[in-house]
Amino acid sequence: MLNQAELCNQKFWDEIATVHLKSYQSVKTLQDGGIALREIELMELGEVTGKTLLHLQCHIGTDSLSWARQGAIVTGIDFSAQSIACANQLKQELQLPATFLQSSVYDLRTTLQGQFDVVYTSKGVLCWLKDLDEWAAIIAHFLKPQGVFYLMESHPICNIFDDLKKGDLSIIYPYFHTADPIFWENNAPDYDDKTYFPKNPSFEWVWSISDILNALLKAGLSLEFFNEYDKLFWKRFPDMVENDDGWCHLPQYVGKLPLIFTLRARKGFK
Ligand SMILES: C[S@@+](CC[C@H](N)C(=O)[O-])C[C@H]1O[C@@H](n2cnc3c(N)ncnc32)[C@H](O)[C@@H]1O
Repeated sequence: MLNQAELCNQKFWDEIATVHLKSYQSVKTLQDGGIALREIELMELGEVTGKTLLHLQCHIGTDSLSWARQGAIVTGIDFSAQSIACANQLKQELQLPATFLQSSVYDLRTTLQGQFDVVYTSKGVLCWLKDLDEWAAIIAHFLKPQGVFYLMESHPICNIFDDLKKGDLSIIYPYFHTADPIFWENNAPDYDDKTYFPKNPSFEWVWSISDILNALLKAGLSLEFFNEYDKLFWKRFPDMVENDDGWCHLPQYVGKLPLIFTLRARKGFK
């Protein structure tokens, strides 16, 4: 059952799903016959043709449908009904095979059957999760023996800085987990459609790198690699510059500050 903070987040994501269906560049990329995935994900996850892939927190399905276009047999799940409706609309329009299911990550053991070759999740997912140990246990549950989990996410160190301030970064938020989530009034524009101001507030949980790694290790997964990069998949800070390749950089911190991390973990040992 969803708690108050999650119910609030569900309303928030239901509100902006249709906004994103219109604004996401990745929708246009898919409509033009391309894929929305980053080269790092493609290279690090490896060949997916013919593999079953479970995409957690798939939002409007742009990454799920991209993996389907790469040949994976995809199931995307998200707790926002509007996100799943948009994903199904896009699937129909693009005539790509995928299964979309409305479910909280935490309910999946009862809402979804089977095991998968790959569990994938990426780009703005961990801050919405109330319990990382349970999240990791659910990932392990849905992986076949030798199956791989892949994650690309913004680096937790980014979460400590004031993301409205120009110039030198200044620390205003905690790096370490706090029991209560942070409440966001959301008086700022949407992260993708800068002309849209969400009406619903949201709650976000803070997780450190050690929380993430320890949760996966505790669930019995073996870490195959952990990488950090000084570029980000969205324009998070006012001074960020977006390159032609779609990656955003902080010019004064290039080579000094990690902005994303990726990891791959396996169920069992290789
Ligand atoms: C930032 S979006 C993910 C973005 C996605 N990677 C993309 O590029 O479109 C976060 C998603 O997590 C979903 N979400 C948040 N909490 C969830 C939960 N407990 N279970 C399932 N989905 C959840 C939201 O509905 C939203 O679609």
